[in-house]
Amino acid sequence: MKKQFVMGNWKMNGQQQQVVTLLNELLAALLSPFDANVVVFPPAIYLPLTATILSNSQLTWGGQNVYPKDFGAYTGELSAPMLKDYGCRYVLVGHSERRHLLGEDEKFVAEKFHHAKEHGIIPVLCVGETLTERQQGLTEEVLTKQLFALLQDDKRVFQQSVIAYEPVWAIGTGQTASPEQAQKVHKFIRDFVAEFNQQDASQLPILYGGSVNEKNAHALFSMPDIDGGLVGGASLNAQQFVDIIKCTNCY
Ligand code: PGA
Repeated sequence: MKKQFVMGNWKMNGQQQQVVTLLNELLAALLSPFDANVVVFPPAIYLPLTATILSNSQLTWGGQNVYPKDFGAYTGELSAPMLKDYGCRYVLVGHSERRHLLGEDEKFVAEKFHHAKEHGIIPVLCVGETLTERQQGLTEEVLTKQLFALLQDDKRVFQQSVIAYEPVWAIGTGQTASPEQAQKVHKFIRDFVAEFNQQDASQLPILYGGSVNEKNAHALFSMPDIDGGLVGGASLNAQQFVDIIKCTNCY
């Protein structure tokens, strides 16, 4: 069985003391070995602190954002080499908040995705449709566009990456996609990747995100093409996050 993932996207939340408390609570609750990939994404300024607290633990961490250049005159941005300096294994790219609030388009998201991979950081590509797009029956069309943007001459771009299906209407709304709804889209994503390489498709972790909590996680994670979750709000509470981790096949 594939090792499942639980990722916690803290977004722009927490200050130093809360970061220390939350990470220590997680470590205390996850003392015994578990068989899942657990990743936290703190605000960038707390990555050094996170790296210190989580070193020598089973937990890993990543950046919420990256700029697709190594160094240079890009005020306010940070690059994959910088994330690597602090032990980041993963980086989120294409999160709907960045696509919709900050106007990041598919081309820019693709540049970030490839930049991360070039530096050995695993990009977690977030894709998903808005409510209007779903109501208009455009979900598969939107996803195809978001996934297609990544393809270059090399058709094996999905190797060493993670995809998170996050329907925009489910993010932070308390309205989760049903396991069946999510499974249908996850299968669509896997079939899309399989058209280029069967092995990459079967190995690709496809996570569900959007109002995941300790009550709905088990049913979602039990679906054949759902390999875990990307959790926002519930990842800020250690007990809830740990309860979600326990919904994977990790013990
Ligand atoms: P949510 O956020 O769990 O609070 O809905 C998920 C995300 O944005 O990654």
